Amino acid sequence: GKPPNLYAFPSADELAPSLRTFVLDAQNAAIERHNVFRVGVSGGSLPQVLAKALLVESNGDGKVQFDKWHIFFADERAVPLDHQDSNYRLVKKEILDKIPKGMGTPTVHPIDVKYLDDVQEMADQYEKTLVGAFAARDSVKLPLFDLLLLGCGPDGHTCSLFPGSPLLREVDAWVLPISDSPKPPPKRITLSLPVAYHGIRIGFVATGAGKKDIMKQIFDTEEGAELPCGLVNTKGEDRVSWFVDYPAIEGVAFP
Ligand code: 6PG
Repeated sequence: GKPPNLYAFPSADELAPSLRTFVLDAQNAAIERHNVFRVGVSGGSLPQVLAKALLVESNGDGKVQFDKWHIFFADERAVPLDHQDSNYRLVKKEILDKIPKGMGTPTVHPIDVKYLDDVQEMADQYEKTLVGAFAARDSVKLPLFDLLLLGCGPDGHTCSLFPGSPLLREVDAWVLPISDSPKPPPKRITLSLPVAYHGIRIGFVATGAGKKDIMKQIFDTEEGAELPCGLVNTKGEDRVSWFVDYPAIEGVAFP
């Protein structure tokens, strides 16, 4: 069915102002609630779209207060931080390196590259990072991100949760290791499915004609709703918003 919060625009550039308003609303609510804004971001095309939304002059819709931001990675590849496959590097290149003076400086939480050879240990360490930022594991069941900004792969993956993966059954761990990702590189860590769909707000960004087949599946078929991206969409309920361009949803019926 049609998600309650679907924002569709002719092009990726045109969705930026709407994504900006969404992120600023999440930021302001979080700062009011606990004086910090904890955001999880994906790799792929997302950082570039996000940069277009954030790194622009305010047009009266409020300010990006990067000093209050804590940026985490919804998924990350087990590679050095300056490697071309690194999501940290991507976020740095697209956003962090381009923040104009006066917008503040976010606190970024990259993976610990000491554990590149041991993805289980890398996942455990990243979970500890989350525990440090959110709360002790025994006092909260899950870390509640103020905002998760996610992509949806052509096979229906989100974060690094791939269709058919046994990781989708995880109910306890917050961060999971992957050593056989179907999308290269094979070694990664990812937020678990429950952490993803418990985000206080969840924003999916999907642009380009390359997305139309998977968008059709997710919104128009029962099987598609069971793919990782469809699961976060359904289980996240009205906390989920979609930012799409027309090519991505061409032919979607939203029955
Ligand atoms: C990754 C990404 C991944 C991505 C999707 C969508 O590190 O592999 O985080 O989950 O978000 O593959 O990517 P696009 O937005 O580029 O289609």
